Amino acid sequence: MEPFDIDEYRDEDDDDNNTNETRPLGVEPKRNPLTVRVFGLPLRKAAAVVIVVLLVMAVVLSLTSSSHDKASSDTSVAASTTPGPVRLFGTSYHVASTTDVYRHGHRLKGPFPSEIGTLTALTVLELYHGALSGNIPSEIGLLSSTLNVLVLKDCGSLNGTVPSEIGLLTALKVLRLEDDKLSGSVPTEMGLLTALEELLLPNNQLVGSVPGDLCANPQLKEIRVDCPPDPSPVACACDNVCQCTSHETHEEEEGQT
Ligand SMILES: *[C@@H]1O[C@H](CO)[C@@H](O)[C@H](O)[C@H]1NC(C)=O
Repeated sequence: MEPFDIDEYRDEDDDDNNTNETRPLGVEPKRNPLTVRVFGLPLRKAAAVVIVVLLVMAVVLSLTSSSHDKASSDTSVAASTTPGPVRLFGTSYHVASTTDVYRHGHRLKGPFPSEIGTLTALTVLELYHGALSGNIPSEIGLLSSTLNVLVLKDCGSLNGTVPSEIGLLTALKVLRLEDDKLSGSVPTEMGLLTALEELLLPNNQLVGSVPGDLCANPQLKEIRVDCPPDPSPVACACDNVCQCTSHETHEEEEGQT
């Protein structure tokens, strides 16, 4: 911007009224007396404005199209870098607004994607009768403040230990992990699930014991483990809520373990 000059301002007004006026060269060396005006601006300024507008439009267009490309074709990268949609089990989920994921059947296959932890609004995650493999990702603990229901039932070859991050899911009311291939000890961090009403663990290769801390939860309705003489039964010592499933006969019977 040139500093404001009242004389030059008057000259411009004069130009508007007398476009054919000529000036002696040297009196006003900066101004070209034959300046062509576009929208009331000298040609060069008008051209500069048009170029700036075009550049801004180009930048905006390229930004919107590149985020669209990411959303539609490269969601695994987008999920880790931007809060766009995330692709789970062959379906796209919007990160900020997905509250429920219920899935079962043939598309539930391959490793359990760690991107599950990006669904920050999730309240219900129910996966059953699938062909998942590998571990439950520790990122499941990132769903802490929202998740009420977690069901991973008969998911195929879901194996490994139950991640200790499960103890971060302090809003959980229902935790069902039955009929998988989970092994190792029941994590003591499960005792932190103070909202829990239902805990189902039968038909895995889990060992250890249900954390005694859970027994103090007044809202606890049911804890279900394998009945003995399972080769590696999980001990449960909460009065009145511990039940067991005998999966040789698929008959359910009540009893203390
Ligand atoms: C889990 O299953 C995979 C094959 O799906 C296997 O490679 C891995 O060793 C298993 N892990 C455990 C702890 O059993």
